[in-house]
Amino acid sequence: MKIKNSCENIKNINADCEIIITDNVSKKDKRDLKLLNFDGGSEEIAFLPHLNKIYVGVDEKSANEVRIATAIAIKKVKQIGYKSVKIECENEEHLGAMAEGLKFGIYEFDKYKSTKSKLKIKEVIISTKSKKASNVLEEAVIISSAVNFAKDIVNSIPQDINPQTLAEIAEKEAKGLVDTTCEVYDEKYLQNEGMNAFYAVGRASVNQPRLIHLTYKPKNATKKLVLVGKGLTYDSGGLSLKPSDSMVTMKLDKSGGVAVLAIIKAIAKLKLPIEVHSIIGAAENMVAGNSFKPDDVLVAKNGTTIEVRNTDAEGRLVLADCLCYAQDLKPDVLIDIATLTGACVVALGEYTFGVMGNSSRLKHSMVLTANRCGELSSSLPFNNFLKKHIDSDIADVCNIGKSRYGGAITAGMFLDRFIKKENKDKWLHLDIAGPAYQESEWGYNQIGATGASVKSIIEFAKKMI
Ligand code: BES
Ligand code: ZN
Ligand code: ZN
Repeated sequence: MKIKNSCENIKNINADCEIIITDNVSKKDKRDLKLLNFDGGSEEIAFLPHLNKIYVGVDEKSANEVRIATAIAIKKVKQIGYKSVKIECENEEHLGAMAEGLKFGIYEFDKYKSTKSKLKIKEVIISTKSKKASNVLEEAVIISSAVNFAKDIVNSIPQDINPQTLAEIAEKEAKGLVDTTCEVYDEKYLQNEGMNAFYAVGRASVNQPRLIHLTYKPKNATKKLVLVGKGLTYDSGGLSLKPSDSMVTMKLDKSGGVAVLAIIKAIAKLKLPIEVHSIIGAAENMVAGNSFKPDDVLVAKNGTTIEVRNTDAEGRLVLADCLCYAQDLKPDVLIDIATLTGACVVALGEYTFGVMGNSSRLKHSMVLTANRCGELSSSLPFNNFLKKHIDSDIADVCNIGKSRYGGAITAGMFLDRFIKKENKDKWLHLDIAGPAYQESEWGYNQIGATGASVKSIIEFAKKMI
């Protein structure tokens, strides 16, 4: 599906159908729309087959509403089977959102279906007066393609995506990108480097863990952004085994790792003048005779000893070592992304990711950036009382909190134990456990993976320049 811009008046553009985004029911077609009970509210849709028009409503004409409306409308176009579509964009600020909505609306994951649906839509023509239209559209297509790329990998099953195959995907991607390289380290490396927390989580699986390190280093780089992603290609819970119902969907636990891969891909394609490192802690949390156990004490890369009381709190163990590794790169900004806790979903609901760290300025900037690109996020505050909840009687720190309350924050404060003094204000932790994966549609998202945080971090990187 090609997305093109045209400075022609919408009336003079030839296409099989037209999408009309409206926040009120205008005089035109009013009677038809009334009959269909269409009031122009958010997420409402009306198809007028005799006029080849599709109306979609928005509460207000904001970029975020336009993105969702466009996605809903193009999905309808796809179902009907039109080959070409035209749509007017009155506000040039909404152009990027419109293109993203188009790409998100047609996204479908049918890798495991025996019959694949073929997309009939060949082109979408956006009527706009904007002089920057081609550039804006090109950028929006790169970003939304990266989000859809992340969805494809996260939706893929653990049988296909394990630490090794994820590493192969990363290597292949790096080869196709400018100024980008990829190093993959195996289980022996983890042992030799003292990354015992990470290794303990992954060692019981037949698919041994991998540390994947992608680097995008353009000559004109001004800043260094280091990203760390939780890449649990499966989380069974380990010996603290998850109940069957909670285990279903745990292929999602690689979402943070896949996000950092998608982000570096988009940044390299956009040729942003910023050095980016994406570090993926890829492992499978499985059960075997050599599983790590509740009661074990693990020594992380920086020498910190960790009492394990629950092997299902494994993401923070992988991240602890990856964050130590990441800080050797001397980042200007360090961000980890993880489907870390169910508690974050309880705290914020399933559509919002949690933002944690020690710098109010950085947290605030992240929340604002996310909101601007249509992702929901909220800051969760650390405090000294919860900090005591992860004290251990036998080791330096414990991998779970004393009570179940504030679980997203105690997990964030656990990670904070591995952040060096000089990096405290440079670090952000994003808990994307809620929005990374949903078993029902919402906004512009289909069922399954969403590519949560990818758009926000790309936008954040642009702001760093
Ligand atoms: N991967 C899960 C977190 C998760 C839960 C992500 C639901 C997405 C949806 C994580 O490894 C985990 O199991 N965390 C435990 C921590 C607990 C044992 C302290 C949790 O949230 O229950
Ligand atoms: Zn777990
Ligand atoms: Zn997990």
